[in-house]
Amino acid sequence: MSVLAGWQTIEQDFPRNGSWEEQACFCLQYALLAPSTHNAQPWLFRIRAGAIELQADRSRGLAVSDPFDRELSISCGAALFNLRIALQRFGFQVEVEVVPRADDPDLLARVTVVGRARPAAESRLLFQAIPRRHTNRGSFDSRPVSPRILHELVQAARREGAWLEILEGDNKLAAADLVAEGDRVQLADPHFRRELSAWQSDGRGARADGLSALGLPTRETGFELGPLLIRTFDWYSLGRPAQDRELALGSPVLAVLGTRHEETSAWLAAGQALQHILLGATIAGVHASFLNQAIEVSALRQRLCALTGCVSFPQILLRMGHSNAAPATPRRKLEDVLLR
Ligand SMILES: Cc1cc2nc3c(=O)[nH]c(=O)nc-3n(C[C@H](O)[C@H](O)[C@H](O)COP(=O)(O)O)c2cc1C
Repeated sequence: MSVLAGWQTIEQDFPRNGSWEEQACFCLQYALLAPSTHNAQPWLFRIRAGAIELQADRSRGLAVSDPFDRELSISCGAALFNLRIALQRFGFQVEVEVVPRADDPDLLARVTVVGRARPAAESRLLFQAIPRRHTNRGSFDSRPVSPRILHELVQAARREGAWLEILEGDNKLAAADLVAEGDRVQLADPHFRRELSAWQSDGRGARADGLSALGLPTRETGFELGPLLIRTFDWYSLGRPAQDRELALGSPVLAVLGTRHEETSAWLAAGQALQHILLGATIAGVHASFLNQAIEVSALRQRLCALTGCVSFPQILLRMGHSNAAPATPRRKLEDVLLR
């Protein structure tokens, strides 16, 4: 398991005089810090001459909550964004080819080095935010997020080929109701509970993936009850829907990230947009967390779509605000995700 504390200091350890493979490995360490559904880390990488390929690891997919690998692809897109930024930070100019092909659907993207350039100030800032970004599942304080920051996050989504819409007033209320409804539907499903419990760790550090009870309890971390209880217990009665509704309503920002299309390349764009937004928020001192149950249940996703004008596809429901620092989560070692 990678221990992430102290990562900021590693920036100086970039092997300037090392081989391409050593430099690529260094940058890949940052790709691994991307968020992923249930912290499943569903990605694999192959280093080629002057390029890095990203592959989906579908053995880490979530058959119940993500049957089409939509969130899996978004997670891979977030890792792709980190990789791009890390390479740019160390002076590589890169071209990203999104390459899902019918004959090789697992190969998602190829990042090719096309030259050298002085890193832009923005890549440095985004890069430094990578190890500081963590999902924060606690409640946020009432301080608003400034319109200037929100505007920048909306622009960040656009630059990656996605859109971010801030929900306000009645739409925010309606979305919070959909979150509670999503909890009810999912937590009443024993298959969903079994899948969730399979990704629970006991928090003692033995696993390099999955969810532990670090931070506050959430739908995903599954309280501190442990896998057996999650599998067998009817969460409905524990008030989870009402708590998540409160979290949604109490967050200064509730926002939908979406795309115009619904296919692997759009999901990869959503993942890059997601990570651009999350790192931008981190730089601005804003914390974020996910309430994706309203998107994972397809009937609710359509209702959420209607709230956003229904021109395209909601991919992620984010809440944002100010809070105390959230803990880091574990990651698998680079050697476990590197294809030779
Ligand atoms: C596509 C996607 C969907 C997610 N959905 C949820 C969610 O619905 N609820 C939640 O609490 N966390 C959600 N997460 C956050 C992950 O659980 C989190 O990224 C993972 O546990 C790693 O922790 P970190 O983000 O702090 O590094 C989601 C992450 C991704 C990338």
